[in-house]
Amino acid sequence: MSVALRIGAAAFAITVAGLVLNGAGGARAAAADGGATQSVFARGRYLVVIGACNDCHTPGWRESDGSLPPSRWLTGSRIGFRGDWGTSYPVNLRLEFQALGEDQWVLAVRTRGGHPPMIWHDLRALTVADRHAIFAFIHSLGPAGVPAPAAIPPWREPSTPYVETRPRNPSPP
Ligand code: HEC
Repeated sequence: MSVALRIGAAAFAITVAGLVLNGAGGARAAAADGGATQSVFARGRYLVVIGACNDCHTPGWRESDGSLPPSRWLTGSRIGFRGDWGTSYPVNLRLEFQALGEDQWVLAVRTRGGHPPMIWHDLRALTVADRHAIFAFIHSLGPAGVPAPAAIPPWREPSTPYVETRPRNPSPP
């Protein structure tokens, strides 16, 4: 191999190594900045995961140790949460986000309240860009499943399974 060719080959190898390193660095940077450099869908997916939406809205999520594929995500639950408010059911978001307009969702995050244990009070901290990202991701999953049961008032006995959320021991003074 001529000297020129050897230098050329060495330069090529260095370039490739540089690209590989940059690639890994990029992934690390995306992880370190909380994913802000991801695409809007990837950002939405990331927020849905760390926002724990699947923990309540996806049947079997905890049991699967978070390994269910996105096709099974957010189809709502027939297991109620029972407390002083009555019994509430995590809504089927796959259907909800097809019916809901993007602007309605963005506004809802700021203004909505509802029965516990839905985390509206936490979602109010979302930036507008992140609200759009959540909408884009959930909407892109498409419709699936059937509607969850409607919430029922405290004086009615649920006919579905439910989780009892009342504290068992008296509250401290
Ligand atoms: C701790 C459980 C829990 C978590 C976590 C949770 N939700 Fe919910 N969510 C519920 C319950 C229960 C309801 C029904 C509340 C009611 O009856 O008012 C609900 C209702 C909703 C609704 C209202 C639908 C409607 O038709 O009124 C939306 C939208 C929603 N959740 C989105 C989300 C998103 C997005 C996340 C994640 C960022 C999330 N939820 C996390 C339990 C949860």
